[in-house]
Amino acid sequence: MASFHCYTLFLSLIISTVAAQNSLILPIRKDLKTSQHITTFRMGSNSAAINAVVDLGGPFLWFSCNDYASATYAPISCGSAKCEATKGIGCVDCNLPPRPGCTNDTCGASPYNPFLDVLVSEGYAVDTFYPKSGAALPDFSFSCMDKEYLAGLAAGATGMLGLAKTQISLHRQASAKLKLADTFSLCLPSSGDGILAIGIKPKSVKSTPLIVNPVSTYPIYTTGDASDEYFIEVKAIAVAGARLNLKDSYFSIDKNGVGGTKISTLQNFTAVHNSIYKPLARAFAKAASDMRIKSAAAVAPFRACFRSDSIARTAAGPAVPEIDLVLGGKDATMWRIRGANVMVEIDRKTTCLGFVDGGSSPRTSVVIGAHQLEENLLEFDLVSSRLRFSENLLLMNTTCSKI
Ligand SMILES: *[C@@H]1O[C@H](CO)[C@@H](O)[C@H](O)[C@H]1NC(C)=O
Ligand SMILES: *[C@@H]1O[C@H](CO)[C@@H](O)[C@H](O)[C@H]1NC(C)=O
Ligand SMILES: *[C@@H]1O[C@H](CO)[C@@H](O)[C@H](O)[C@H]1NC(C)=O
Repeated sequence: MASFHCYTLFLSLIISTVAAQNSLILPIRKDLKTSQHITTFRMGSNSAAINAVVDLGGPFLWFSCNDYASATYAPISCGSAKCEATKGIGCVDCNLPPRPGCTNDTCGASPYNPFLDVLVSEGYAVDTFYPKSGAALPDFSFSCMDKEYLAGLAAGATGMLGLAKTQISLHRQASAKLKLADTFSLCLPSSGDGILAIGIKPKSVKSTPLIVNPVSTYPIYTTGDASDEYFIEVKAIAVAGARLNLKDSYFSIDKNGVGGTKISTLQNFTAVHNSIYKPLARAFAKAASDMRIKSAAAVAPFRACFRSDSIARTAAGPAVPEIDLVLGGKDATMWRIRGANVMVEIDRKTTCLGFVDGGSSPRTSVVIGAHQLEENLLEFDLVSSRLRFSENLLLMNTTCSKI
């Protein structure tokens, strides 16, 4: 009963903070075809609606300006203080008729489309950003992207919204303009509308330090640049309460920036180093078998699959062994992944362990993916460099679309 009271308190805290003034709220929905999480906002004097893929590790907002028209659009000129703040590289010109995205002497941007794995030479600009609710952000910095590089994005999406630790990510620009603490909350839905909220004081009970990877993870960078992505310290992994016997070295980040654990909204399923995947899948299959869950033929990209009719149900999805990420920091807390966050229902007959093999030499040993983040409230507190997290909201009888 004690834990039930704690959940109730926690919930009312979330609700009261979401209703607070001076915050910025954007909806997030899941595109079922690509599994990308998409948000919508408006830009410029014509209030153009833009659908963009939410990219937690992305450095800034970019979208296609080919068909964009706005009286308040202004390119950032090279050499300007604004260009300095964007960390723009070089100066770009354009020999075609002038339009947004085609101007001379423009501060150079390098937007990256990870689905195509292409880095494009473009220019930075500013215009007004209008969230679904909350204050408009004038002079918001972003990069244009030519529409020929949009392949891989969900139908209707023309850009990506970056939330990394850069000076020009959405939360950093919003908190600077609105004089808010630099914090944001992200709740990826499995269905319905989730939420991206900025300027809300984190309230989740569990937290862990955000740590720095000393080497950039972006396709282009200057020597000495640290990664702008969100890394946390996972010290061990347990299945059904039993710690896996794994080498510590996978969990630490070496001087070349290799190893460790990051969170990514672009990765569909948590991907782990092959030397972690094998014992994880083995321990999971054993613990599942102890629960009388019957195995089934594997369905790629998964390797551990089970008969759906042998799995009981709980409020948080299928009743299966839990997977714990044992976290670092003095809190020594644990991120317990359960039910629907552990399993992927392939069809009515087959349900698989929703973790994938990241190969034998991944840059990052553990990449926590979107499936494991869905229906979890994540609160990034850049003031105290901490990640606060709720674990699966279904356990509290709520979802991302209800908070
Ligand atoms: C994610 O899943 C979708 C289907 O739901 C698939 O089309 C896409 O290729 C996957 N992406 C990655 C990076 O695995
Ligand atoms: C950029 O400058 C060149 C040379 O002066 C000019 O021909 C071109 O039209 C300009 N481009 C734009 C987009 O104004
Ligand atoms: C969960 O919510 C539903 C509908 O909102 C309600 O009927 C049910 O009693 C709630 N269960 C618990 C355990 O609070």
